[in-house]
Amino acid sequence: MHSFAATALLLTSSALGVLADASFYPGVIATGTQGPTNPPKPTLGTPVNQTSMARLLSINSIDDFCLFAPPEKKNISESETEEVAWCTKQRNNARLIPDGTLTGVSFLKTSAYVQVLGYGDFTKLNIPYGDYGGELDPHGAYGSGNPIGGNVTSNITGSDQNFAEWMLYIDYNQFCLRVCTSANSTYSAAAMCWHELDEMGCGFVMPGNYNFNHTFETCEADVAYPPGWYPTATVDGTTKFSTFAQYFTGTNSDGSGYTVGDTVTPSAPYMTPSSSNCATTSSVGNGVALAQLGISGSAASGPTASGPKQTGSSAGSSSHASNSAADLTSQTYPVIIFISILSGMAAVAIFH
Ligand SMILES: *[C@@H]1O[C@H](CO)[C@@H](O)[C@H](O)[C@H]1NC(C)=O
Ligand SMILES: *[C@@H]1O[C@H](CO)[C@@H](O)[C@H](O)[C@H]1NC(C)=O
Ligand SMILES: *[C@@H]1O[C@H](CO)[C@@H](O)[C@H](O)[C@H]1NC(C)=O
Ligand SMILES: *[C@@H]1O[C@H](CO)[C@@H](O)[C@H](O)[C@H]1NC(C)=O
Ligand SMILES: *[C@@H]1O[C@H](CO)[C@@H](O)[C@H](O)[C@H]1NC(C)=O
Ligand SMILES: *[C@@H]1O[C@H](CO)[C@@H](O)[C@H](O)[C@H]1NC(C)=O
Repeated sequence: MHSFAATALLLTSSALGVLADASFYPGVIATGTQGPTNPPKPTLGTPVNQTSMARLLSINSIDDFCLFAPPEKKNISESETEEVAWCTKQRNNARLIPDGTLTGVSFLKTSAYVQVLGYGDFTKLNIPYGDYGGELDPHGAYGSGNPIGGNVTSNITGSDQNFAEWMLYIDYNQFCLRVCTSANSTYSAAAMCWHELDEMGCGFVMPGNYNFNHTFETCEADVAYPPGWYPTATVDGTTKFSTFAQYFTGTNSDGSGYTVGDTVTPSAPYMTPSSSNCATTSSVGNGVALAQLGISGSAASGPTASGPKQTGSSAGSSSHASNSAADLTSQTYPVIIFISILSGMAAVAIFH
C-alpha cells in the first residue's frame, strides 16, 4: 500500500528534481486556475448559502466531503454543466447537504485514490425521484468540466491539494465518487479516474462493498484496476491489459453515422478490491437546522428518508456490487471486442 506513494515520489523527484509539488506524479495535481464560481482555496466555516453556485468539492473525511448536484430540480443528464457543490460541512461557499439526506456512507482510502460511496435521499439535492443520474468529471463537452468550472480538493495526502482527475456518479438515491490522488507509470491518474464509462454504473467503475446502507464507515482499501482494464498476461514481469470502451453510436455533422467502443459490455470488473480496518461513526451531519433558518434544503422535496442509524461494525470486504447510479446496463450490446494492448490509454485514445 505505502509503496505506491513512495514509488511515485521517488520516480518524480528523480525525474523532475526541483519543484516542491513534484512529489506528485505528473497528471495528479491540477495545473489550471480555480473555476470562476469558486473561492480561491478550500475554506471551512463559510456561511450557509442554499442558493450558492460555488463548484468546489473537498473530499477529506466521512464527515467532510461534498457532492455535485443540480442548482434547481433537474435531471443530472440535463444539468451536467451547471451542477453545484453541496457539502456536509459549511465550507467553500457551497450549499449544505441537509442533515438526514445521507443514509449510509463508505469512505475509502487507498494509495491511489480516495473514494466515497453513499446512499441517501438525493431528492433533497434537487435530483428528481427516479432519475437514474449520470457521470460528472473534469473533462466534459467543453473541456472545462461537468460541471463547467468544477474543482476538487482533498487533504488526504497531508495538505489541501487540487486534484486533476475525479469522477462522480450520482442518481436520486446513490452516488460514488473517486478522486485520484496518486499515480505511477502503470496507472495514470486519468486511467484510474477514467471518465468515459458513464453508462456502466458504480459497481462496475468503482467496485467495492456496496452493502453499507445505514452504516457510516471509513476504511482502507486495496487499489482497483482502472475502470475497464482487464489483466491478460504477464510479459517479462509486466502485466498487460485489455481495455473495454463503452459502446456509443452517434451522427457526424454530414449526417453519416459512427460507432465507437466495444459492442458487448462486460458484466463485471476483473476483481473487487477488499477493504479493511473499517471504523464506523453513527452518522454524518452538520447540525444546522436549515428549516429553522427559513431555508429549504432544496427546491424539491421527495420521499422522506429515515435518519441515519448506528449499525455497529461493518464487514469490510464483502462484495455487493451495485449498478444503480447511472446504470444502463440493461441495454444489451451484441458482440464482444476486447483490444489487447500494452497501454490502456493508447487504445482508448484510438476510440475517442
Ligand atoms: C479547476 O477545474 C478546471 C476544469 O476541470 C481545471 O482545468 C483546473 O485545472 C482546475 N483548477 C484547480 C486549481 O483545480
Ligand atoms: C449565495 O450565493 C449566490 C450565488 O453564488 C450569491 O449571489 C449570493 O451573494 C450568496 N449569498 C450570500 C449571503 O453569500
Ligand atoms: C428525468 O429522468 C427520468 C428517469 O431517469 C425520466 O423518466 C424523465 O423523463 C427525465 N425527465 C426529463 C425531463 O428528461
Ligand atoms: C483535513 O481537513 C479536516 C477538516 O475536515 C481536518 O480536521 C484535518 O485535520 C485535515 N487534515 C490534514 C492532514 O490537513
Ligand atoms: C502502480 O501501483 C499499482 C497499485 O498499487 C501497482 O500494482 C503497480 O505495480 C505500480 N506500478 C509501478 C510501476 O510501481
Ligand atoms: C437506504 O436506506 C434508506 C433508509 O432506510 C432507504 O430509504 C433507501 O431506500 C436505501 N437505499 C437503497 C439504495 O437501498
